[in-house]
Amino acid sequence: MRRIAILCVGNDCPGLNAAIRATVVKSNMEDLEVVGVKDGFEGLLRDQLDVLTRNSVSGILHRGGTILGTSLYIPESDEEVNKVVEKVKQYSITCLLILGGRIGTRAALRLMKANVPSILIPATIDNDLPFTDFSIGFFTAVSHVTDALDMLHSTAEAHHRVMIVETMGRPSGWIATVGGLAGGADYVITNAEGFKAEDLLAKIRSRYEGHKRFSIVVVEDGLKLDQKFYEEVGVTQETPPAKVIGMYIQKALKDINIEWRYTSLGYLQRGGSPVSMDRIIATMMATRAVEMVKAARVYHAVGMRGFTVTEVPYSESMLNLKIVDEYLRNLAKLFY
Ligand code: F6P
Repeated sequence: MRRIAILCVGNDCPGLNAAIRATVVKSNMEDLEVVGVKDGFEGLLRDQLDVLTRNSVSGILHRGGTILGTSLYIPESDEEVNKVVEKVKQYSITCLLILGGRIGTRAALRLMKANVPSILIPATIDNDLPFTDFSIGFFTAVSHVTDALDMLHSTAEAHHRVMIVETMGRPSGWIATVGGLAGGADYVITNAEGFKAEDLLAKIRSRYEGHKRFSIVVVEDGLKLDQKFYEEVGVTQETPPAKVIGMYIQKALKDINIEWRYTSLGYLQRGGSPVSMDRIIATMMATRAVEMVKAARVYHAVGMRGFTVTEVPYSESMLNLKIVDEYLRNLAKLFY
């Protein structure tokens, strides 16, 4: 019997369990066995793998995180890769099914060089992989940002404050831009566009003068800010850029007495139950991956183009960064 070993590599995201469930259900129908590897490649090297049955994946569709656990470790040196090769032989694994983002992609490409067959399923809230329109987890992260902006609106308005909201996803800009668009942000600052101070100040001022004495400003984390902004507000480079922007606004708009508050959405964006789109694309891509194992079409990633599943042969270009579409960036600006 052919055997798939499924594992999560890199940061977790909501929807991984939906993919694990679909893999097992489809494999059962196709007469393939699935073993679940605990904690990514660390678990494989420690022999932590177990057969997954229909029962073991029952009731997990709606659960965030991953029942398998994950790890950031990937084999890089020849010695480490050889250990993986040995385990793949020892457990008669036909194909690894790797659920992950950039780290998972790196592992898949590295192992291809050692003839370890795999299929990659894109799973990262960052949505920054170039071979797919959507990665598992992205829609849930966007939904969390949307909910947060909805909630912050009322208190921002009540107190006439500027709310600075820091999101993940750097440096691709997807979560900040699409979350900002969905949540009605008054301004979005991403690594892709950089910080345009005058533009932001003009926006806040014009809202204020137009009797909207509050603003919601989304800032992608890890923003590269010019040293002059840190100096201007008298803080060190250790200060989160989103906070520096808040201080800068307050100082530059002293005449209209701007108060600001900072919220970092942090790991909330990666947690919780997956939204329907993440469950659906996880199910679609995992199901296709099983069909590919059956047909021996390995060394491919699955992806989404619109609502269609695609198969993309492995290549180094899979590691290129997919920056958020210019169209979406401009669309968000329409509402500033
Ligand atoms: O890859 C997903 C992600 O959430 C990024 O957006 C973020 O920069 C990173 O993980 C942070 O992860 P950690 O703190 O767990 O390394």
